[in-house]
Amino acid sequence: MVVIISAAQLCCSATSGGHEFTFHGFNSGDLTLDGIAEITSNGLLRLTNETMLQKGRALYPMPINFKNSSNGSVFSFSTTFVCAMVPQTPSWITHGIMFAITQPGGLPGALPNPYFGLFNETTFNGNATNHVVAVELDTLQNPDHDDIDNNHVGIDIHRLISVEAKSAGYYQGNQLHNFSLGSSKPIQAWVEYDGMAKQMNVTVAPLSVGKPSKPLLSFPHDISLDVLETVSIGFTAATGSAVSTQYILGWSFKMNGIAQELDPSKLPKLPRVGPKRKSRFLVIGVPVIAIFSLIIIAFGVGYYVFRKRKFAELLEDWEQLYGPHRFNYKELYFATKGFSDKQILGAGGFGKVYRGVLHNTRAEIAVKKIHNQSTLGMRPFIAEVVSMGQLCHRNLVPLRGYCRRKRELLLVYEYMPNGSLDRYLFDKPMRTLSWNQRFQVIKGVASALFYLHEEWEQVVIHRDIKASNVLLDSEWNGRLGDFGLARLYDHGSDPQTTHVAGTHGYLAPEHVRTGKATTSSDMFAFGAFLLEVACGRRPIEQTASNDDLILVEWVFSWWNRGEILQTVDPKLGEDYDVEEVDMVLKLGLLCSLLDAELRPNIRQVIRYLERFVALPKLSLLTLSIAGLTISRSEGFDDFVLSLSYSDDKIGSCYSSITNSIVSEGR
Ligand SMILES: *[C@@H]1O[C@H](CO)[C@@H](O)[C@H](O)[C@H]1NC(C)=O
Ligand SMILES: *[C@@H]1O[C@H](CO)[C@@H](O)[C@H](O)[C@H]1NC(C)=O
Ligand SMILES: *[C@@H]1O[C@H](CO)[C@@H](O)[C@H](O)[C@H]1NC(C)=O
Ligand SMILES: *[C@@H]1O[C@H](CO)[C@@H](O)[C@H](O)[C@H]1NC(C)=O
Ligand SMILES: *[C@@H]1O[C@H](CO)[C@@H](O)[C@H](O)[C@H]1NC(C)=O
Repeated sequence: MVVIISAAQLCCSATSGGHEFTFHGFNSGDLTLDGIAEITSNGLLRLTNETMLQKGRALYPMPINFKNSSNGSVFSFSTTFVCAMVPQTPSWITHGIMFAITQPGGLPGALPNPYFGLFNETTFNGNATNHVVAVELDTLQNPDHDDIDNNHVGIDIHRLISVEAKSAGYYQGNQLHNFSLGSSKPIQAWVEYDGMAKQMNVTVAPLSVGKPSKPLLSFPHDISLDVLETVSIGFTAATGSAVSTQYILGWSFKMNGIAQELDPSKLPKLPRVGPKRKSRFLVIGVPVIAIFSLIIIAFGVGYYVFRKRKFAELLEDWEQLYGPHRFNYKELYFATKGFSDKQILGAGGFGKVYRGVLHNTRAEIAVKKIHNQSTLGMRPFIAEVVSMGQLCHRNLVPLRGYCRRKRELLLVYEYMPNGSLDRYLFDKPMRTLSWNQRFQVIKGVASALFYLHEEWEQVVIHRDIKASNVLLDSEWNGRLGDFGLARLYDHGSDPQTTHVAGTHGYLAPEHVRTGKATTSSDMFAFGAFLLEVACGRRPIEQTASNDDLILVEWVFSWWNRGEILQTVDPKLGEDYDVEEVDMVLKLGLLCSLLDAELRPNIRQVIRYLERFVALPKLSLLTLSIAGLTISRSEGFDDFVLSLSYSDDKIGSCYSSITNSIVSEGR
């Protein structure tokens, strides 16, 4: 008999089929669903979603035999599940989850909240005919249900008013830790019934904590009278007028034993960011990030535009031709330390000159920054500048290249360590040059001019020969700089205003009159330069008596008296070659002849300087100082010299011709 009963029991257990199961996530068909409950594609059981006033129920599909048929007592059982309650926004409420043991197929007529999808308004308040034993994880405090707070765990028998309830918490040792059920984080619950001791234990904890050693609720009660012999077990949840999403991630159950523990790593993942969380990110994070990005972009763009402007250049297609001669503005900017005032070497009529060091080659350069209003007519000028870059003579300052910006032209020259010659001649200089040095410089400049006028493939007119345009290299050789630059003014000048480029005192009268520069006008300036170097004075100088001292007139008057050596720079003392100085002074006068035709050309000048040929004899017929003004408004005081000379070698046709013609009548 006993054996048969045992066999029947075994058979019964076996046929009930529900004595033990474990789910790490669910497949459709694992559970019987009702209401809006769904199994998601990644295996979560979602009891409710964000639709209001809905209920969801999921029951183990097979009814389970819960009682010992011989004496009607309930078997021991154990179950554990992992759930999560995700409010619509983090601060909002959730609705709680119910684990229920009910009549097979669940209690009919169940309603959404506040009835958990388990009871209805007639059944919630209890009737033994309900046959319900449930555990509630409740996150609402409903006074109709005598709830203790809005975050509690309770045991419900027949009705929603709990027979035993406590605030959600878990023990570690004897220490009770509170935690929030509706925090969106997975939590785990254990419900255990001891059929011998007639006691129900309920334990809850965050999934990350593991199973606490001590249950939160221990309720001694025999549920044999409360549940039917065959029951359904499962979960219910519901939404009210507010919504939240309730999930079950895994569930295991065992009759007459300890349910298998769930492995957190095997559980399906909750949706990462709830829609609410996202909206908070959208509401605060996105605008903040957007504003920050905009500010950063604005700064970036601003900085970019600023840099672009700062280093903007004018570069036209035709300049491709001059590629190697074209400098980058940025390169020059950094070479001159941002065109710092400390780098200024000098300032002239054309603009300031800055000293610099090229970053890549460490070459020392002088950058002439020319303010240039006109951007028209630049092409031929640049072509000329570049072609001058090909000029190569040891007495020319090498032109390395150029750079062009909106209102600026930058010319890049090799740096000349000893500066310009005028520093050693005028105004009580710190140091002066000996006659030998000066004569070397004169010969050097003459040689450079010869190169420009005659030796190079085309005639280059310097237009601005003067002591301040003669630079001294490290070996004190004179090097002519700034050649052809006056063209820039010719190009850029407004045709309405007549403006002749060059420097007052060095300008040949016919150049002033016609505006046309010629090699003869260069020779006139060279004459003034010779007198400057020999006399140590400027071509036009304010004297103590406030009159302009015109150097050429002054030298001429001394020559007239036969005492030309009186004009020699007193800084030289007695230390000079009389014949050379005499020759240079006279050559200066000769080059200063008002009649361009009568001036010697550079080839002749070189012959005189080298003493291959003796200077023609100067003789005075008349000297008149007309004091006529070519352009008073521009402050040009002109003077008229009438000279005659005889020259056996070069000017037999001119010999003894009286040139008293030159006058500036208008
Ligand atoms: C909730 O689930 C039901 C049933 O699957 C569906 O009809 C409804 O659209 C869902 N609501 C939301 C807000 O997802
Ligand atoms: C019911 O019977 C089982 C054995 O079949 C026994 O273990 C259990 O203690 C009994 N329960 C009661 C309340 O008598
Ligand atoms: C409440 O549920 C009971 C059975 O559980 C059912 O008979 C009754 O009709 C339901 N009442 C309502 C209002 O749905
Ligand atoms: C319990 O339910 C039964 C049947 O539905 C009913 O006859 C009885 O009056 C109810 N008891 C209470 C206390 O509501
Ligand atoms: C736990 O919650 C209860 C009730 O909400 C509160 O009185 C208590 O201070 C909380 N304890 C801790 C440690 O947060």
